Amino acid sequence: MGDETVTHAQAGLSGEIRLPTDKSISHRAVLLAAMAEGESFLIGVLDSADVRSTIAACEALGASIETVHADERGLQVKVTGWGNAGPAQPSGPIDCGNSGTTVRLLAGVLAGWPVDVTLTGDESLSARPMERIAAPLREMGATVTTSAEGTLPMRVRGGELTAISYDSPVASAQVKSAVLLAGLRATGATTVTEPRASRDHTERMAPAFGAQVAREGLSASVNGPATLTGTQVIVPADPSSAAFSIAAATLLPGSKVLLPNVSLNPTRIGFIGVLREMGANITLKDLPPMGNETVGTIVVQSAAELHGVTVGADVVPTLIDEVPVLALVASQAAGATRFEGVGELRVKESDRIEAVRAGLTALGARVTAGDDWLEVTGPSTLTGATLTSGGDHRLAMTWAVAGLIAEGDTTIEDFDAVGVSYPRFLEDLLGLVRGDAEV
Ligand code: S3P
Repeated sequence: MGDETVTHAQAGLSGEIRLPTDKSISHRAVLLAAMAEGESFLIGVLDSADVRSTIAACEALGASIETVHADERGLQVKVTGWGNAGPAQPSGPIDCGNSGTTVRLLAGVLAGWPVDVTLTGDESLSARPMERIAAPLREMGATVTTSAEGTLPMRVRGGELTAISYDSPVASAQVKSAVLLAGLRATGATTVTEPRASRDHTERMAPAFGAQVAREGLSASVNGPATLTGTQVIVPADPSSAAFSIAAATLLPGSKVLLPNVSLNPTRIGFIGVLREMGANITLKDLPPMGNETVGTIVVQSAAELHGVTVGADVVPTLIDEVPVLALVASQAAGATRFEGVGELRVKESDRIEAVRAGLTALGARVTAGDDWLEVTGPSTLTGATLTSGGDHRLAMTWAVAGLIAEGDTTIEDFDAVGVSYPRFLEDLLGLVRGDAEV
């Protein structure tokens, strides 16, 4: 499938780009609107393969989703939810594509309704663990089966649910959200407690649809049964998509890049703290919030010098999707950068610990890795190579940024994977290289 070649950049990045909107927030806006009674108006829903999986799934379950307008700022959609009638029995299995958020949150949404739904996905999604969702949903009363390996296909036969208090063994927003969304159909308080704080978009957004959400420390609860009511949601830009141009501008001398309207939700921007600790020059300018999400403009200039840091397990959930690109930055920093407690990366769209180790090593970086840690020692001069995304969008984008700083040419096989979260990625990045990127 589509390969791309990226050439060493001769100068810094400059300009302003309007990043794609947030993938996690878009999934939740579509799902909550589909669950709600009446109409919702969603502004800036991410137009990418993953979110299209959620939209198609909700349509198959009986929600009406009309795209009123589409431009580079995303989709404006009008959703009429299934509301109190509940989701319709779909005519066949629901294909969730590459999207972990779609399949896991949907399992929670369906658990409380008298439907029998089989959820499937592509090769990558079909290898990822689903028992982490199936187990708590079973405890609540749903009948959920997975393959012998605990993977897809996952069959959810929903029914009457009991509210539970669930101590999640993993810091996962997908697990937390699945249980909380199911909890909206149970009587009483359903509580999820996490070992470390994961992204909290569900807790922030559900009250706008009328859900009662309570939060205390590492616990979040919903009160059921709840009737959700349609509302309006505006989706800010995605900080995880911002991370690639932030890393590139940090690494290339003479750069200055402006990224407006990005979600600055603290559970998402741990990577900015780590980059600053390494010596990056990043300024955040607050803008008025969008709903319950904090938003701002990010200004990045090249770093004068970078040094290695230790990224402890506690902050890892706040930068879980940014570890590949942070590891690339670490290859240019003096000394060792160690990521601890990153075992979850082995069960993402690919085994990202192994993929980052292999890819950075092929470029000339010094990397060692264990079951749940990754260490990069720099600085190293990188030399262009042929790398593969392995079908993983975040690796495709990391290798493209690597291509800008490596000597010569870097070819990325299966680059099309970027369509999962950031279809226009290469245009945006190359626009910043030419210095003609603007809103
Ligand atoms: C997501 C949660 C995270 C993250 C993923 C999106 C979400 O996964 O890696 O890209 O939208 O809830 P986990 O819940 O598995 O940590």
